[in-house]
Amino acid sequence: MIVRIRSIGHGIFLTLSVFATKIVALNAEESNHCDANSHHHGPSSCAAGESYNNCPLWLAPSYTGTDREPKYGLFAGKAYGVNETLPVHAELAIPLVDFNFQPTEQFQRNPAVSLPNHHAQLIDFLEGFFWTANFVGAQCEGEYSAPAAIPGIGVLSHYHSGISNVNFHQASVLLRKSPSFLKAGEPHLSRGAITTYHNVTLQATREIPLGMEFFADFGDVWDETSGDNDDAYQDTIRRSDYEKADTIISDLVTFFQEFPDLSRDLQEEIVDFMVDDVLGEAAGKHAKTIRSLIPSSPRKVAQAQAAGGSFLYRYREMIRSSDWLQQNGFCLDTLRAGPSRIPSAGWGAFATRRIQKGETITVSPMLHIADKEILNMYPVGETSSSTQSIGKQMILNYCFGHPESSLLLFPLGSLATLINHQSGKSSNAYVTWSRRVDKLPNQHQYHDYTVEQMAEVSKIVLTMKVVATSDIAEGDEIFLDYGPQWVAAWNDYQARWQRDKQGNSHPLRAQDLRDQYRTKPFAAARTKRPPYPVGVATACFLNVREVPDGKPMFDEALRVEIVEWSSPTTQQDYHGRNLFIVDVLDRAMAPEHFFNYTVLAKFAEDRIEEIVNVPHEACTFVDLPYQGDISLPGAFRHPIGIIDGHFPQKWRNLKGTKSKQ
Ligand SMILES: *[C@@H]1O[C@H](CO)[C@@H](O)[C@H](O)[C@H]1NC(C)=O
Ligand SMILES: *[C@@H]1O[C@H](CO)[C@@H](O)[C@H](O)[C@H]1NC(C)=O
Ligand SMILES: *[C@@H]1O[C@H](CO)[C@@H](O)[C@H](O)[C@H]1NC(C)=O
Repeated sequence: MIVRIRSIGHGIFLTLSVFATKIVALNAEESNHCDANSHHHGPSSCAAGESYNNCPLWLAPSYTGTDREPKYGLFAGKAYGVNETLPVHAELAIPLVDFNFQPTEQFQRNPAVSLPNHHAQLIDFLEGFFWTANFVGAQCEGEYSAPAAIPGIGVLSHYHSGISNVNFHQASVLLRKSPSFLKAGEPHLSRGAITTYHNVTLQATREIPLGMEFFADFGDVWDETSGDNDDAYQDTIRRSDYEKADTIISDLVTFFQEFPDLSRDLQEEIVDFMVDDVLGEAAGKHAKTIRSLIPSSPRKVAQAQAAGGSFLYRYREMIRSSDWLQQNGFCLDTLRAGPSRIPSAGWGAFATRRIQKGETITVSPMLHIADKEILNMYPVGETSSSTQSIGKQMILNYCFGHPESSLLLFPLGSLATLINHQSGKSSNAYVTWSRRVDKLPNQHQYHDYTVEQMAEVSKIVLTMKVVATSDIAEGDEIFLDYGPQWVAAWNDYQARWQRDKQGNSHPLRAQDLRDQYRTKPFAAARTKRPPYPVGVATACFLNVREVPDGKPMFDEALRVEIVEWSSPTTQQDYHGRNLFIVDVLDRAMAPEHFFNYTVLAKFAEDRIEEIVNVPHEACTFVDLPYQGDISLPGAFRHPIGIIDGHFPQKWRNLKGTKSKQ
């Protein structure tokens, strides 16, 4: 099985590591709206050229799709600078604990369901949309793996072989704060029902011009395995070749700026010389490709630089106009995240502006999961007697489903997963299939596929929209009616919770300690057991270097090498792949860093090292496998209902069988 989990290429092996998150932009900036999707509110003040109709983010047909088979992507409605984050669209991340662990018994099919034995294929397909756990810090949630589903920005920023311009701002989620509705040590109905990983956001890794699509960095392994990619606009020239060409272009531009009086002939000679000479040595077999990317005239070299580099110079048509986005796209500025008005619900989605009855609140591509049984969980390690499922993946709570079908739909729309339930008249929105008039249509032909046929569809083909059923004021929370089966399941869960959990205490989790220890030094425990609750471990972000000359390099007592901490020193440097569980041995006050620690970390089975001068802000807590709320026994697990009349007849493969949701 080719592992195509996004971004496995960063030196982390999936089965060994794990990390995860999801957030809500409590601090999301409110933007002024002069929105393209409705023409009925407030005076607009859009400074021309600054952003497209004040909409920083658009959902529109991606370059990586075709007219016949559209695929929806995200586009910049304003220009983004290097390292700039996209503030409005902080998302949740939903880890799938041990998702990749497949005891052979699990492949036994439910005799009631006429599905072929294709779980491995389905998992392979789904993994292509998930991120390795370390991206959000979830690598310790499972023993085996915990890839994270990140809706919105996590799936809709596609892969392009020639360019990547965004990446996750990992610090946002790795250093996230607890939401106000969760109190340390107290039970809450939403514990185990919603993910604790939040505040996932993207940042630009290079200048992104207004109107450009976002392409995420999926890592080296993905690059290598994506040769079979039949998407449109994928390039035979690799990203690294464009990058090398850009380095030369930038050197040339700098050189000509320093010597502005050179004759045209001389400039051209210098271009030739640089290109030949530099490439001759540096680029090997790629020399020819790279040379073809560098314009021969000095004037065009400057233009290539101004266009944002050799890739964008070559594909200038990739920059979409404001008109094009308005005609073909949907502005993703209608929702923001915040704690729900319903105390038991956790996060909620709120209107950022007035929305009229009948108006589309948001559009959401849907990832189809053709067999809900693949969300069953099995005990890791056991091979024989483990056909008994021990629970279901949390992602089920975010999926739409129907009791007569084994097909589930996971919404990929930005913040769409945050919309909570209210019954009947108390809801103000419903979900249905999008149509051509919505500019981002659903591909209705797939409604005629059977579930078995849908299992063979290995791309995103379905799109739904959330429509207002009444006028919604700015700041109102959006509610759907999740349907009678969901309500029954929730009432049942609530009754059990009130009987078993209410009023009791709840174990402290990593997130609680993270909040507490922001302003409190970690315990130094060279000799004494640290005072942390069972199931929580200290961990630090560690990049290390050799200790300076004259300092001890070996700890005689523990018989380990001593190294010195070197980073992360900026928010940009935080990466889940550098997070290691540690024992904090010693601590000392350090004026610049509050405290510095000496820690012991196991980097690999045969590499245990002592690290000195680890500053306080580089250390945190993680939940050990199956100790986080995501693994809480008896946690709520049930999909959201789709309105019966909207659910295609052909997909009802469980009709007449005794289905279990
Ligand atoms: C989310 O991340 C941003 C940085 O991108 C940070 O400033 C903010 O405090 C974080 N919010 C929460 C609730 O953790
Ligand atoms: C972006 O962040 C990286 C990593 O911290 C840093 O090296 C670089 O200078 C930053 N660039 C800008 C333009 O801020
Ligand atoms: C604390 O650690 C930082 C980062 O490694 C280092 O620069 C600093 O000198 C240390 N401070 C003390 C007082 O040891």
